[in-house]
Amino acid sequence: MLRAVGILLIIVAAGDCLKRRLGLREPLVETLNLPKEQWFNQKLDHYKPTDLRTWQQRYYVNDTFFNGSPNSPVFLMIGGEGEASAKWMVAGAWIEYAQTFGALCFQLEHRFYGKSRPTEDMSVENLQFLNSEQALADLANFIVSMNAAYNLQNGNKWIAFGGSYPGSLAAWLRYKYPHLVHASISSSGPLLALADFRDYFEVVKASLGTSSIDCVSSVKMANKHLTKLLTDQSGGELLTKKFRLCSPLDVSNDNDVSNLAESLADNFAGIVQYNKDNRITSDPASKITIDDVCNIMTNTKLGDPIDRYAEVNNLLLRVTNQTCLNYTYEESIKDLSNTVWSNSSTEAGRQWTYQTCVEFGFYQTSTEESDLFGPNFPLKFFIQQCRDIFGEGFGKELLEEGINRTNTIYGDLHLKVKRVLFVHGSIDPWHALGIISSQNPDAPAVFIKGTAHCANMYPSKNDDLPQLKEARKTEIHYLKLWLNQDD
Ligand SMILES: *[C@@H]1O[C@H](CO)[C@@H](O)[C@H](O)[C@H]1NC(C)=O
Ligand SMILES: *[C@@H]1O[C@H](CO)[C@@H](O)[C@H](O)[C@H]1NC(C)=O
Ligand SMILES: *[C@@H]1O[C@H](CO)[C@@H](O)[C@H](O)[C@H]1NC(C)=O
Ligand SMILES: *[C@@H]1O[C@H](CO)[C@@H](O)[C@H](O)[C@H]1NC(C)=O
Ligand SMILES: *[C@@H]1O[C@H](CO)[C@@H](O)[C@H](O)[C@H]1NC(C)=O
Repeated sequence: MLRAVGILLIIVAAGDCLKRRLGLREPLVETLNLPKEQWFNQKLDHYKPTDLRTWQQRYYVNDTFFNGSPNSPVFLMIGGEGEASAKWMVAGAWIEYAQTFGALCFQLEHRFYGKSRPTEDMSVENLQFLNSEQALADLANFIVSMNAAYNLQNGNKWIAFGGSYPGSLAAWLRYKYPHLVHASISSSGPLLALADFRDYFEVVKASLGTSSIDCVSSVKMANKHLTKLLTDQSGGELLTKKFRLCSPLDVSNDNDVSNLAESLADNFAGIVQYNKDNRITSDPASKITIDDVCNIMTNTKLGDPIDRYAEVNNLLLRVTNQTCLNYTYEESIKDLSNTVWSNSSTEAGRQWTYQTCVEFGFYQTSTEESDLFGPNFPLKFFIQQCRDIFGEGFGKELLEEGINRTNTIYGDLHLKVKRVLFVHGSIDPWHALGIISSQNPDAPAVFIKGTAHCANMYPSKNDDLPQLKEARKTEIHYLKLWLNQDD
């Protein structure tokens, strides 16, 4: 979600507003035989020695491949901005590697997501305990405790895995706790915190262009037309009908206009980010590809570009079982202002939005007339959301301070680490904030042509692209090499 960036499991749906797309999703798993959840007694505040409060953090174990030898590795899947999934304990590339290396496997859910709830609610006061530094300290504390619980030795080296935001965490964990974590595989992780992430939609444009240039120009024409219609009330009426809005659009409401334009752009972004990512499930929304939406956008029989743009919206409403598009700013803010824990696995919007407002930014903006998706959702729209959801104090200054702080403490793209492998896909817009090439043999990078967000993490398939197969071989190569290094 985050925009649905959640990584673990963000469902991108038309009308699902104000999502900050990020996120690894679940692998498709047939078995009902999943490991049971377990609970770890975790410190609330790692940075205040006098605060002894604790809470229960969820984790999973798969010890099937581990033979207890003092040289077998320990694999750790880092949870992120969504609920942890037991399915990752029995499937995915890391489980295939675990089989090869005889690894003991753990997955720790990220604080404040899923069932890992350190506080009684998500009030702003309590969200002070939600940040990447606390999450990394959770992981460190967890490793130390599991070393004792499983009687692990120095030779039982920990390897961290993570995709999307946890991809960043995997790299940062190795950086901050090198004595606990021997190596990391960091997939699709943004390492540069940034308020105005306008390159996100630049990559979306390039990725649509891999299908056809006409697709890009048609999206562009649709947005030019949309922007024009947004200037007067009769245009608003037309758009209300065309895009099946749940309530009549008032074009004088800038926040509604931005929210609508962003939702329509997200129809495309969500499909690009997860294009053919191997997560194919029974959910029809996950089967839609770049080619499918581009076939609509270039089909002149469907009318003008804006009609085709509406047709893409209809398609997404249909596969997500929605009868109309909810786009109002007020409703979105109301949802994200709810401080009560929700039991729905897909609802992590408030938590991730908080992290973006105080640590990362990552706002997927479209600001200029010349941008593919027009000038309708600039940075100030996102900063307004931080204020409206969390309070007046959560404005531009706090955001900038937070971003500077994040880049200072981790080192942005100049992060100094060894034994970290960075993996990205060229179709995935998030690669624009990650390390996609490296001259450093101790911190190599793999940039996979033609794959989407976290594609390398899903279970391998015979018909995977050859370059994706090659990337997984590279991961195994480095795992072997690094597990043989002692220091
Ligand atoms: C570990 O994963 C393997 C491969 O999917 C599975 O067969 C096994 O049942 C899992 N073990 C546990 C304890 O979940
Ligand atoms: C939509 O409804 C159909 C039929 O009831 C169901 O099979 C499908 O899972 C639903 N899809 C979503 C995204 O809720
Ligand atoms: C739109 O939002 C309203 C208010 O939150 C809700 O009652 C309605 O079910 C939503 N409609 C759809 C199609 O999601
Ligand atoms: C979530 O589930 C728990 C336990 O089943 C229940 O007590 C609680 O009321 C639920 N919360 C919401 C918001 O539905
Ligand atoms: C953040 O860092 C930039 C670049 O170093 C600097 O120009 C800016 O003033 C800093 N902002 C804040 C709020 O500290």
